[in-house]
Amino acid sequence: MDIVLLGPPGSGKGTQANALIAARGMVQLSTGDMLRDARNSGTALGKRVAAIMDAGELVTDEIVNSLIGEKLASGDGFGFIFDGFPRTLAQADALSHLLEEHGRKLDAVIELVIDPEELVARIENRVSCPNCGAVYNLRAAPPVRDGYCDYCPDARLVKRGDDNAESLKTRLLEYYRKTSPLIGYYYKSGALARVDGDKNVESVSAEIAEILDRISK
Ligand code: AP5
Repeated sequence: MDIVLLGPPGSGKGTQANALIAARGMVQLSTGDMLRDARNSGTALGKRVAAIMDAGELVTDEIVNSLIGEKLASGDGFGFIFDGFPRTLAQADALSHLLEEHGRKLDAVIELVIDPEELVARIENRVSCPNCGAVYNLRAAPPVRDGYCDYCPDARLVKRGDDNAESLKTRLLEYYRKTSPLIGYYYKSGALARVDGDKNVESVSAEIAEILDRISK
């Protein structure tokens, strides 16, 4: 089963992808994570994308389509979770072609519907471990020891470079201008399912599980 998690910055896509990996052994394909890996590697591509990400703008369709294409060609996941991809109509078309090439199809697009004020609060309180990538929320899911990762005792938690007020404004604008048209696109295709993303993590996971169980019958 291949699914897309669709929603604005901070809506919980990464959190729900982790829950699906744990519960169903699915494989997460997060273009945000791929781009952060590229920027950390210091390659020419990494340098190009770093400034775009920090400003909160979208990286070009060409770059992200090719990252996803490489992953689909190299992996034979039992089920892919596309997290943060597609983000434009051109990316949605590219995904549909790529899946077809690999004999796969999109089973569901889960939209995490959420109040914009809640998004800002979540982003402002997000910290993560630079070592293992664990994500915390200082308000909703804080670490046991203030400022340190629960799994890597010496690792100090950090904020993401693009989790600041200025960049967040641009990220939200990019989402509403370029990504939200996908809601209509997938509604029309019959793949769209909407979930109340304002609820707590477990309740959102339960709603998603119900949808996936229903369509896999
Ligand atoms: P990306 O990494 O995809 O970031 P994003 O879409 O902005 O989403 P986030 O990672 O900020 O949030 P999330 O929805 O995963 O929420 P999370 O689970 O962490 O992209 C970053 C950048 O890369 C883009 O701006 C762009 O430049 C580039 N990029 C990426 N993909 C691209 C593409 N396809 N095309 C072009 N450019 C691309 O949760 C947030 C916080 O809330 C956490 O602290 C979490 O603990 C907490 N939380 C989660 N769920 C709940 C809940 N139910 N209740 C309370 N707290 C919760």
